[in-house]
Amino acid sequence: MTADRAPAILFVCLGNICRSPLADGALRYAVAQSGLRWSVDSAGTGGWHAGDRPDARAIAVAARHGVDIAGLRARQVRSDDFARFDLILAMDHDNLAGLNAIAPRGHRADVRLALDLVDGRAGQAVSDPYYGDAAGFDATWRDAQAIARSVLQHFGGRG
Ligand code: 4NP
Repeated sequence: MTADRAPAILFVCLGNICRSPLADGALRYAVAQSGLRWSVDSAGTGGWHAGDRPDARAIAVAARHGVDIAGLRARQVRSDDFARFDLILAMDHDNLAGLNAIAPRGHRADVRLALDLVDGRAGQAVSDPYYGDAAGFDATWRDAQAIARSVLQHFGGRG
């Protein structure tokens, strides 16, 4: 990531109602707590849930940790995201492949797997909790927090 300005970071999962809104919320919260002015957003490679609020189970787990993500609305990733964002973090390998498939030639964004930034988790996916139970959302929240912490550590000196 080479921007001089405050970083712009986009999290991407499949539906943009479970994993990426939790990572988005965790990083937004950490950024605000640190007094930084970064741009943080999330999107889905799929568009089925466009306009929807996050899954109720995602809203609940974030709320239990003091983070309000109820105001987020799902959207599908767009080609101009590759120009608007410095760092695009995919939650799993399918999302990463989907991003690479639509990335405009010569785009500026650094596109990678989100857990590649977390010590000891490189190459791992954030598991999709959508078809599971509430415990899955606790695991997703823990991953979201670890990712947010790592992003702050890597890029926290800016903006
Ligand atoms: P997400 O989870 O990609 O973490 O938002 C999913 C949400 C919806 C679906 C699949 C995964 N779906 O099939 O509708």
